[in-house]
This record gives sequence, structure tokens and C-alpha cells, in this order.
Amino acid sequence: MSDLKTIVRDTQSYINLPLLYEHWYVAGLSEDFSREPLGRTLLEKSIVFYRTEAGDLVALQNRCLHRSFPLAESKLKGDNIVCGYHGIEYSPEGEINNVPCQTQCPSGKLRKYPTKEAGPFVFIWMGNPENADESKLPNLDYLENPNYLSFHGVKYLEGNYLLMQENLNDLTHFTFLHANTFGADNKLLDDSFLKLPLEYPEINGVTGCYRILNNAEVLKAELSPEQQAAVGDSELVNKNGGITHSPGVWLGSNVLQVKTPAPGQPESYNMYINHYLTPEKHNSCHYWYSVTADYLAPDPDVIALMQQLFSTAFEEDVYAVKHMQHLLSEDTTDYKEINIAGDKAGVQIRRKILEWAKEENPTVT
Ligand code: FES
Ligand SMILES: [Fe+2]
Repeated sequence: MSDLKTIVRDTQSYINLPLLYEHWYVAGLSEDFSREPLGRTLLEKSIVFYRTEAGDLVALQNRCLHRSFPLAESKLKGDNIVCGYHGIEYSPEGEINNVPCQTQCPSGKLRKYPTKEAGPFVFIWMGNPENADESKLPNLDYLENPNYLSFHGVKYLEGNYLLMQENLNDLTHFTFLHANTFGADNKLLDDSFLKLPLEYPEINGVTGCYRILNNAEVLKAELSPEQQAAVGDSELVNKNGGITHSPGVWLGSNVLQVKTPAPGQPESYNMYINHYLTPEKHNSCHYWYSVTADYLAPDPDVIALMQQLFSTAFEEDVYAVKHMQHLLSEDTTDYKEINIAGDKAGVQIRRKILEWAKEENPTVT
């Protein structure tokens, strides 16, 4: 069943929606891909990645057109890839350039996937290549600013990616699931956090969720002495939350807004906390994240401490997703769920995911 009412009330039906191909996803870190062919399964498609001699990234179907030998188990010859079974040679465009045991090349072409490198990440368009519109990519320019504190990491989810999308759109779990990490010694994340006013802005037809802390002067201590002087006596407002950009990209932010900035001084101090979810198969998912603070210098010691905290906290989400998926898959007895106030943004995302599913699947009603 995939009608809206069922999707909103029933997580099993929700995560059974078909995977969504007409979107950009992260394929990996730029540093993952080299002159050594690498196979990776994304949205149930096996893909081979390699770089040309000039360093350009190539992403082709990882299946030789002759007898399905994986091209990731093959060798490069210049910019071409030569199947390790009977030696058929393919160009970076996926065309057959040579068949060693005959003079003529048969017709046929490997599927080629559009890619785009952004900061430390490689994005891939999983749908019809003609629809690969780069304007649909998130703006991640801040990931490339060497003056900002920035780090990234990788995890793996033993569960459907939508369970994690929903986790990201729900701020109420911070106080409980992350009690020992983000919540440890943090008075801002005790029960009072759950009572803060919420904003649900709509951007490109998607609803985000942000908790608002007015009079956030307590957070001034996180700024440098120079930044604190620049803030002066201005009132501060903290907005913490995020929004689904696309099925596989969630853009989070923790922003300290200066209500009355002095002339020439920053209007806000921003931390961007993004999550990139790329289904491997239906119920498993590649998971990358990035954290960037535009008001902190890239101090390696601070980065190491923050990386440790964020990695441990995100592992708590990985743990939750794994166990929810296990119960949803393995034990269907006593299955009845309720929705609560903290689900508002998550429910909106269920609507949007269903809308996207209908757009590319005539069978989804
Ligand atoms: S399987 Fe690739 S050339 Fe035969
Ligand atoms: Fe979380």
C-alpha cells in the first residue's frame, strides 16, 4: 500500500517505497577514486569508477556487455578499461573500442553515469543522464574554504535510508538517543530543548525543522574573543535544525544570529552539518557526513576532538536505524505505530518522498 494515509502512519509501507533514481547522490569521497578501478553498488546498480590519465572521473556500469564480468576486476589501458575476462576494451564513454578475437566491434555501449565533484565528495546522477541538472546539486561552496574548520566522515547503515532521513528531520531524539554525546554536560539539550519554539520553513516544496533559542547569549562563549567583541551587546538567536534537500542529501545548520550586528561585522556564525545518504540496496545505505564552521579556524586538535564527538554521536543513529530495520523486517507481530508531536517534519518528508516516488514510478499510486 502506498497511499498517503498509509505512508504517514506505517513505517513498513514507507520504507518499502521504490528507490528514487532521478536525483543526485554522493558516490563517495574524491579520494576513493584513482587509477585503480573500484566497484561500488549504489541504488542496487553495480558501478565501476576510475580516473583517466588527466584525473577525470569515469563512472560506468560494472558489467561487461559480453558475459557480465565485473569491470572493477579489470585493468586500465590509458583512459580505456579492458575487461579482465576476454579483453573487450571500452572507452570512458562506454563505447566498445576493441574486441581482441575479432576485427569488428559489435554494437552496444556501457551505461555511463554523470558525476560532479564538490568539496571532498563526488556526486552521481542515478537517473536518466539527460535529466542530470547540476542546478539541483546542493550549494556546498563552504566545504572548499580553507579558512573554515571542516571535516567529514563515513558510516554504513544496516537499514533503509528513509529511516535515517526521518531521524535527521526529528530533533526530539537529541535529548535521549544522544544523551551521552551531544547531550552530555549540555544544559541546552535537556528537557527545555523540547519546549523551544519551532520553525518549519518550506524551501523548494520541502519542509525543514529548526528549534529557536532566543536570548542565546550563553553561546557567545563559543566565539573567539575578537568575535565576542564584534558581537558586542547585541542579542543572539540560535537556530538549530535542517532540511531535506533531496532523498539522499540533508542539509543541517546550527546558526548563531546577531540581531543587531555592528557595521561590517558578521550577521551570523554558522555551522553546517550535512548528511549524505546513498542507498546501497533497499535496506542498506552508504552514509557520509560533513561538518563545517565558518567562524572557527581549521585547528587540527579542535578538529580531532569534534570528529570524535560527532562520529560517536552519529554512530548512535546508525545503531538506532539498524535495530529499527531489524524489527521492521524480522518481526511483524504487534505492529502498530503512533505519531507524536516531534514527527511533524518527518511526516512532511514522507509526503515529499511519496510525491517523488510517484513522479518516477507510474505503479506508485
Ligand atoms: S566477459 Fe568481458 S570480454 Fe568477455
Ligand atoms: Fe541523531
